[in-house]
Amino acid sequence: MEIFESCEVGKVRLKNRIIRSATHDGLADEDGGPGEKLISKYAFMAKNEVGCIIAGYAIVSEEGSSSYPRCLTFYNDSAREKYIKLTEAVHAHGTPIIAQLAHCGRQTSSKTIGMKKIAPSAKRHLFYPDKARAMTEEEIIRVEDAFADSIAKAKEYGFDGAQIHLAHGYLLHDFISPNGNRRKDGYGKDIDGRLRIIKEILAKAREKVGDFPIWVKLSATDKRRRGMRIPYAIEVCKRLKEYGVDAIEVSCGSVQDGMNTMRSKRLPMDAVFKYREPVASMPKALNKFCLACAKLINPLIPQPKPLTMFNYPAAMAIKENIDIDLILVGGIAERGDMQKALDGGIKAVSMCRPFICEPNFAKKLKEGKSDKSLCVMCNYCGLVIEKGETRCLLGKIKKN
Ligand SMILES: Cc1cc2nc3c(=O)[nH]c(=O)nc-3n(C[C@H](O)[C@H](O)[C@H](O)COP(=O)(O)O)c2cc1C
Ligand code: SF4
Repeated sequence: MEIFESCEVGKVRLKNRIIRSATHDGLADEDGGPGEKLISKYAFMAKNEVGCIIAGYAIVSEEGSSSYPRCLTFYNDSAREKYIKLTEAVHAHGTPIIAQLAHCGRQTSSKTIGMKKIAPSAKRHLFYPDKARAMTEEEIIRVEDAFADSIAKAKEYGFDGAQIHLAHGYLLHDFISPNGNRRKDGYGKDIDGRLRIIKEILAKAREKVGDFPIWVKLSATDKRRRGMRIPYAIEVCKRLKEYGVDAIEVSCGSVQDGMNTMRSKRLPMDAVFKYREPVASMPKALNKFCLACAKLINPLIPQPKPLTMFNYPAAMAIKENIDIDLILVGGIAERGDMQKALDGGIKAVSMCRPFICEPNFAKKLKEGKSDKSLCVMCNYCGLVIEKGETRCLLGKIKKN
């Protein structure tokens, strides 16, 4: 398979096999719709040969809101015209665009959402320590309806498909995983119970949107005790196919794993102390002192490995067991790795940080001007989103 050939993935016709994976851009307007700057950013990537764009995650219901500022939302109908403007701007360059839909579950703070946060089971989160409350069955049904309604809106707004976020520790990842889901009722207990919410979302959505493309992003592995592992992920994927999912983007990790979803050699300490609470708001002298200490121990903190193509083994294991279109994400930044994934039978590769670093990366690849992204995977961009617009900070703050 060639990188730059038009192809069909999960019932969507792509311009080529390079996808910009969902990236929270921090550029939504007050009403949760895409602001002008976000629209221009996506149009620029589309013009510069990206094969498909998955928009940054959009929240399906208010109690699932993100603690990152200016996150997209889908529950506010007043944003309709802005979403239509976004899809038209991307389509003007012959590029498809997918809406990613999410509920943050316990990966937010009760303070942000103005009520006690909810999750499959009452659990704390390492980085958002106020404890979540276990959802009632009525609340589960409401969340299912919110996802199904949002998928219908994605179709109405002109998106080419919707991607349900089952990864990175958000609500639906928690439901699927034995780590997050300790329920003893019909929405827990065993794998079918844990996946029941997904099955019901798919059934409700299909009634509304027919064969509109529905993708998922799955953390096939994580580092949680009793969490996601490859053999279990294979069983999950078999069921996702049965429920009518059209494509699976294979990712990994939960926010609680630290920098596992997007890996880097070292934790970006300067950025942690600049952007992450509570340390960012410490008195200046204390912040400086703690940062100096943190930098001393930073080289001793083990980081997940490998740093490149880190979801390839999981994706290949899924591929060997299930016939479904797969998209591979995670540490892909070189032409050779992209080709290796495609030669292995992966339908398309998706990238996040390379497009934060160089929004015209796909064009450079296509024209032979580059074989490798300039992104050094320092992960400063993964911290700046705590306070504002997502951007590449390469060279702008000191290295560890
Ligand atoms: C700044 C930033 C924002 C992200 N936002 C999202 C998001 O909205 N939805 C999502 O599924 N993943 C999100 N991710 C994860 C990426 O889509 C991707 O899975 C991960 O970064 C690994 O890919 P990469 O090595 O190409 O960066 C984000 C990552 C970064 C660095
Ligand atoms: S800040 Fe820039 S170089 Fe560093 S990981 Fe993000 S995009 Fe890559």
